[in-house]
Amino acid sequence: MANSSKFNTCFFLALLASSIFTNPASCDQATQSLIDKICRRMEEYGFCNDTFNQNLKGSTADITALTQIAIDQTLIASKDTHEFVVGLLNKATDPAEKNALTVCENAYSIVINLFQQASAAFSGKDYDSMLDVENQAPRAQASCTTIYNTPPNPPNPVGDRNTHARILIAMSVVAGIELTSGSS
Ligand SMILES: *[C@@H]1O[C@H](CO)[C@@H](O)[C@H](O)[C@H]1NC(C)=O
Repeated sequence: MANSSKFNTCFFLALLASSIFTNPASCDQATQSLIDKICRRMEEYGFCNDTFNQNLKGSTADITALTQIAIDQTLIASKDTHEFVVGLLNKATDPAEKNALTVCENAYSIVINLFQQASAAFSGKDYDSMLDVENQAPRAQASCTTIYNTPPNPPNPVGDRNTHARILIAMSVVAGIELTSGSS
């Protein structure tokens, strides 16, 4: 009796230890290969790899699941950036800064709208429409980058957010192309 409960305690502790030391974010090899196929084409492999790994629902994901993660994360980041920009816009007084923030507010409104459509199309398995709307997003998003590279070059508070949004949109498009090519 005492022995068996000691054994159970040991077994429980071993189980606990293995669940603590197994990185919950790590996925199986097939999933990581799929992630790598997408992320090696991105300007920041690490950001792309982390985004997928941190949002997996288990240790395995197919291209459909990765496409969903990319779309969801693009929407979350775009809404977050839009909110951030609106907050800055409400406080801005310098005309050049206000103008740039207005351009960005508009850019991210468009990206959000496009990705809401992409998400609906994905849910309806209408992947051609999904890619059609996603393909309009890079240009809209880029307007928020371009405005800061245009004289009088106002200080840019959205540099990293723009980079990440650009990568998330590209991840969605590349995952969507993989999904529709049927090669995975
Ligand atoms: C990708 O992310 C996983 C999980 O965090 C990590 O184990 C792996 O080393 C990363 N790949 C590269 C090439 O950094």
